[in-house]
Amino acid sequence: MKRSAISLLLTGFLIASLAVQAQTTVVQQQRDEKVQRFLDESRSRWRDLNVPYEDGKVLHDLIVKNNYTRAIEIGTSTGHSTVWLAWALSKTGGKLITIEIDERRQKQAIENVKAAGLAEFVDFRLADAHQLVKELKGPFDFVFSDADKDWYPQYFKDLDPKLVKGACFTAHNVANPYGGIREFLELVQKHPNYKTTIDRTSSSGISISFKK
Ligand SMILES: C[S@@+](CC[C@H](N)C(=O)[O-])C[C@H]1O[C@@H](n2cnc3c(N)ncnc32)[C@H](O)[C@@H]1O
Repeated sequence: MKRSAISLLLTGFLIASLAVQAQTTVVQQQRDEKVQRFLDESRSRWRDLNVPYEDGKVLHDLIVKNNYTRAIEIGTSTGHSTVWLAWALSKTGGKLITIEIDERRQKQAIENVKAAGLAEFVDFRLADAHQLVKELKGPFDFVFSDADKDWYPQYFKDLDPKLVKGACFTAHNVANPYGGIREFLELVQKHPNYKTTIDRTSSSGISISFKK
């Protein structure tokens, strides 16, 4: 092939890939605007034990900063944290599995995630997480634990072997540790393979444990 033909071909490829990139950026920008509007409008409407807005942002930022792509949420409720997690994963090219035992709450969560324009990033599971967490195949790189607090230690024990190096295990409502939460915190804080800090952006507290 002649040199001029090759350079014409390369220029064509370059223009085509720039066009695809520009299109992807536009799609993400439009998505970001839609999600932000949804989160702002719904900010005072969450009634089902949902995380505060500030904690949703902490989770979102952790995923984006560390480029996590394989996430699990235990305790969907009506989906406030799910929207934040799915938004972050829409930016990293990832996907979320979220588990809820209560059908009414899960239905509402599905509606909310749809309304935010993020349905394609979430795999909703209606199940008892005690069982399903044991069955799910890894590997995963991000966990948000926000269901029954007495089971926090067991969720961690079941997921630890499925987490890759550099993964992050987060848990909600750890500011006032009692029962299962205290046991869970002792477990992760003493664990030689994890480095744990507590985010106190809101009064709930989120433990953040990075796997070494
Ligand atoms: C604190 S709420 C989750 C709030 C949610 N992360 C949010 O911010 O919108 C806890 C949820 O866990 C669910 N749950 C409790 N035990 C569970 C179990 N064993 N398996 C699955 N879900 C469970 C409850 O039904 C409840 O909706």
